[in-house]
Amino acid sequence: MSLAAAIRTIPDYPKKGILFRDITTLLGDAKAFRRAVDELVQPWSGSKMDKVAGMEARGFILGGAVAHQLSAGFVPIRKKGKLPYKTVAVAYELEYGVDEMEMHEDAVTKGERVILVDDLIATGGTAQGAIRLLQKQGAEVVAACFVIDLPDLGGARKIEAMGVPVRSLIAFD
Ligand code: PRP
Ligand code: ADE
Repeated sequence: MSLAAAIRTIPDYPKKGILFRDITTLLGDAKAFRRAVDELVQPWSGSKMDKVAGMEARGFILGGAVAHQLSAGFVPIRKKGKLPYKTVAVAYELEYGVDEMEMHEDAVTKGERVILVDDLIATGGTAQGAIRLLQKQGAEVVAACFVIDLPDLGGARKIEAMGVPVRSLIAFD
């Protein structure tokens, strides 16, 4: 079965007009989950990666598996107020309005090579915020990796314009 076939689409969630791409069905399918992680890891399997950063919440699941496979550390990037130690914060754009995301100030050190992993890129606001946080602390963001790209929303172009290569496994209209 293709990765695309393992993803469930829910119309009108969380609001009318949105086709929500639900990866819980992919995560629950052992073969599809392994294949997605293997494909995300594949370009970096021969190279040294210091850290994998994942954005709450779905980026934690995939990013944790990718970090394990690369023998890299994992960096959680969270919505504001969730991390216990000193944080750096950045505002990021949501479909309506802005929010803040945070990372521990010592989660990465200068010059560390990091890949960002999330389930999906839509407008790119989330990934852009995460990359800004990582770069602010001196990390080299080597790539941003997603299972799903929604190319019509322009997120991948926004991230490439920051000088960070984007890799995605599937595109949905
Ligand atoms: C989803 C998804 C990405 C983000 C992509 O997370 O997991 O993190 O949206 O959208 P963007 O490219 O337009 O920024 P969501 O904000 O729904 O949070 P959740 O994982 O906590 O549900
Ligand atoms: N995040 C932003 N747009 C989304 C979509 N269509 N499906 C799942 N997560 C999303």
